[in-house]
Amino acid sequence: MRISVAIDGPAGAGKSTIAKLVGEKYNLMYINTGAMYRAVALEATENNLSPEKVDEICNLISSMEMHFEDDDLILNGENIQEKITMPRISSIVSGYASIPEVRSILVKLQRDMSSKFDVIMDGRDIGTVVLKDAKFKFFLTASPEERAERRFKELQERNLECLYEQILQDIIDRDYKDTHRAFDPLKKADDAVEIDSTNLDINGVVNTICEFIEKLK
Ligand code: DC
Repeated sequence: MRISVAIDGPAGAGKSTIAKLVGEKYNLMYINTGAMYRAVALEATENNLSPEKVDEICNLISSMEMHFEDDDLILNGENIQEKITMPRISSIVSGYASIPEVRSILVKLQRDMSSKFDVIMDGRDIGTVVLKDAKFKFFLTASPEERAERRFKELQERNLECLYEQILQDIIDRDYKDTHRAFDPLKKADDAVEIDSTNLDINGVVNTICEFIEKLK
């Protein structure tokens, strides 16, 4: 039987860093579902499609071949990881991620991946929708200030101009949109283990998750 690990939580909680490390330890393919929503936002804006153009966006997705290589998203043969993590995409992506038709298509793609590979998948609806039957589910949180601080440092390291206050506001806005949207909002699955990483370093979180996996195996 395939192994699936689900990690959900708000923006900037450290899901991708943690998922990569746990994935390496257990030899799981890391699927960053946020990157797939970002890719849709990128392609849609490059084709001048605002979120109201649902049919056109769905057609566009059918021409998008997405897979992961070394944790990066490859779209139609191009590594778009750098492009999709730009602040411009962060600020518009929730408009596309809240379209039910877009979510249905991406959820199907994500389930297909989990049926072919042992995966660790992170996102907002993994434990509640995409991998409802996963044996290992985690819900990672941290205070908005701590998450903004982490994003700020990460952007500074990439020499991208940014303001802490603006990042904090963006995180607060995204939390609101992600938890209040009508379709598959961000929420902890009843059977997920909640981990608050505000005062934990990366190793602390990875160890906590690995301990649970060992216990539940
Ligand atoms: O995790 P992230 O910040 O890269 O996610 C980008 C956006 O996609 C964010 O607005 C939340 C949304 N998202 C979602 O709705 N469902 C997922 N499974 C993953 C991300």
